[in-house]
Amino acid sequence: MNLALSDKIALVTGASAGLGYACARVLAAEGARVVICSRDGERIEAAAGRIATETGVSAIPVVCDLTEGEAIGEMVKGIFDQFGRLDILVSNAGGPPAGDFANLTPQLWEDAYNLTFQSTLRLCQAALPIMEKQGGGVILVITSIAAKQPIAGLVTSNAMRAGLNGLIKSIADEYGPRGIRANTIAPGYTRTERLDELAEGIAEREGISKDIVLSRWTADIPLGRLGHPDEIGAAVAFLASQRAAYITGQHLAVDGGIIRGTTG
Ligand SMILES: NC(=O)c1ccc[n+]([C@@H]2O[C@H](COP(=O)([O-])OP(=O)(O)OC[C@H]3O[C@@H](n4cnc5c(N)ncnc54)[C@H](OP(=O)(O)O)[C@@H]3O)[C@@H](O)[C@H]2O)c1
Repeated sequence: MNLALSDKIALVTGASAGLGYACARVLAAEGARVVICSRDGERIEAAAGRIATETGVSAIPVVCDLTEGEAIGEMVKGIFDQFGRLDILVSNAGGPPAGDFANLTPQLWEDAYNLTFQSTLRLCQAALPIMEKQGGGVILVITSIAAKQPIAGLVTSNAMRAGLNGLIKSIADEYGPRGIRANTIAPGYTRTERLDELAEGIAEREGISKDIVLSRWTADIPLGRLGHPDEIGAAVAFLASQRAAYITGQHLAVDGGIIRGTTG
């Protein structure tokens, strides 16, 4: 399937590693001009180098901490100044602080809001006027299966991701008539640094090995394995393309079937 993404300008945030990196790499492999950002200059430059080596398409690295509103505004303005447009926004960052409700302090809630909800809100606020002016665009937000089915011990994620579903559904509704599509992608258990850290944390708390935690998760997945980051990238590339021109306001789980619900 030709996704016809060449010449599209894409911004993928939180892209020095994990799912963000995979999304950027797949978009670049499909021919998009990709701007990638993360907090760490060395890591994001190394990621841009790997994308160029693996796809033959250069990526533009930007240092941006997504918890800082001004930095987000400057980054998006920089893209507009350089390219005069922004066709695809993939909003992604690290995961919010883990914890049960009883253990979560006001500060942890604030951190979760800033990193997971407000970063997406600000990215949309910066990108939408550009997309509206150019007559179209695509917004994709990496959330989690926690948005569809709360996960024990990830209470901030459960709350923020469900909120993001509401935000993106509202944007899809309001901006659809202006040619802008907006969807979320809800990954299941996908092998990245973050997943390894979560497994290590649980293993330490329960006094078991990390492999046991990983095999517990795997046992619950109908497809019998963890996801690969490129599988999230492939869903993003499809949804970003004209092949998905009639898909908006949706929350797509890419999860090996772990969510059993028949709605939502
Ligand atoms: N992996 C999974 O199984 C899974 C499942 C469901 C949902 N998710 C969600 O998907 C998202 C990505 O997960 P992942 O597994 O790819 O995480 P990851 O491996 O920890 O990667 C996170 C990326 O975000 C960047 N980042 C973190 N904080 C940032 C900030 N304040 N500003 C800018 N960049 C920032 C990191 O780069 P720097 O350190 O260089 O800044 C890194 O590139 C998370 O929200 C996670 O909760 C993941």
